[in-house]
Amino acid sequence: MGFFITFEGGEGSGKSTQARILAQRLRAAGREVIVTREPGGTPLAERVRERLLAEAPKLSPEEQAVLFAAARADHVEQVIAPAIERGEWVVCDRFADSTHVYQGAAGANMALVEALRSVAVGECEPHLTFVMDCPVDVGRARVAARTGQDDPFDRDGDAVQQARRDGFIALAEREPWRCILVDASQSRDAQSEAIWNGVQDRLVRPPMARAD
Ligand code: TMP
Repeated sequence: MGFFITFEGGEGSGKSTQARILAQRLRAAGREVIVTREPGGTPLAERVRERLLAEAPKLSPEEQAVLFAAARADHVEQVIAPAIERGEWVVCDRFADSTHVYQGAAGANMALVEALRSVAVGECEPHLTFVMDCPVDVGRARVAARTGQDDPFDRDGDAVQQARRDGFIALAEREPWRCILVDASQSRDAQSEAIWNGVQDRLVRPPMARAD
């Protein structure tokens, strides 16, 4: 069996960069690694991504959650679960925690969000999740620097972005056996080091016991 690692966090928190760096280090250490992202990762899920991001402002948080989950179910079935079964490492830029936090912060019915998670994810929960945390204004400045790549969620106001930040921090506190909070305002190298050490501690050495 392989390992499933996810990166979560707000806009401009550096998830994609750190996912790529981790994959390079794992490959250099001789592991087979797939880097993927959500929404996306399969032809169908990439089409859902395109439509969803274009239409998001017109959709209720529940409608968004259903579409993210539909894309996720395909991604898990076609890509993530088979790779883990083959003994590979899967590094994914966003996963089900993003629905919990983004659609949750927008007021989605959480019973629906939980039900969708169990349908789309099933047993394929991440072994380790890095929650990339930085102040809203730091993330916003990074998004502004990558011209032409923002989406409707990037344009939400500070109060919404802060609610998401709080939601991700709460997630890391609620599930410490799975999550590691990373200070994403430190240098890129310091973040990579914290992430690499986290992988060694949690996955290469024996995993932490669950609290419940
Ligand atoms: P990205 O910018 O990280 O590629 O993600 C696309 C946007 O979709 C991002 O603004 C966060 C949002 N999103 C959700 O709202 N819910 C989800 O479940 C996922 C995976 C992403």
